[in-house]
Amino acid sequence: MRRMEKNRQESGNKYWTIDEKTGEFLYNLIVENDYKKVLEIGTSIGYSGLWFASALRKTNGKLYTVESNDERYDIARENFSKADVLDIVQQLKGHAPDVPIPDMIDFMFLDATKFEYKYYLSTYLFHMKKGGMIVADNAISHADAMKVYKDMVMNSDQLETKLVELGTGLLVSKII
Ligand SMILES: C[S@@+](CC[C@H](N)C(=O)[O-])C[C@H]1O[C@@H](n2cnc3c(N)ncnc32)[C@H](O)[C@@H]1O
Repeated sequence: MRRMEKNRQESGNKYWTIDEKTGEFLYNLIVENDYKKVLEIGTSIGYSGLWFASALRKTNGKLYTVESNDERYDIARENFSKADVLDIVQQLKGHAPDVPIPDMIDFMFLDATKFEYKYYLSTYLFHMKKGGMIVADNAISHADAMKVYKDMVMNSDQLETKLVELGTGLLVSKII
């Protein structure tokens, strides 16, 4: 993770990964809530995935992470392999929300195409239980593209949502 954080900073964040503070925040959410099944939409090269994997080592869980770009999918595989987490990380190649998820999920991280978040939510919410959590990235940096999603989660009586001003802005929604 340290090596990837260094590369991230030196490359000008070429692969649009989360920053270290956001990684720590997500790590703590998973460990504190004892979440065991994480779904990520938008693996990129696996930086956030490594934060999830390290939290899931503690909770004895598993990560499913979806990526549509072949090159980034392969780089992520190499990074997961180097970090020795392939036993708890299942990469899914394809375009969400068309990718089927093979399990029930208790934590979902949305970090892909912003205007598609509403489709990820409406498709994958059926794979989640009460008490689960959905975190959507870029709520501040891409506020316009996320407006429909934000309205959806803020007005849902199934979700309790708050904006966390960390990194590029996170919408954190708990299923009630
Ligand atoms: C912001 S990056 C993800 C960064 C990663 N979560 C991290 O912090 O390390 C977004 C990624 O989502 C992928 N992507 C965009 N739309 C997608 C979709 N509908 N399904 C799967 N992957 C998608 C892009 O190819 C890109 O690699």
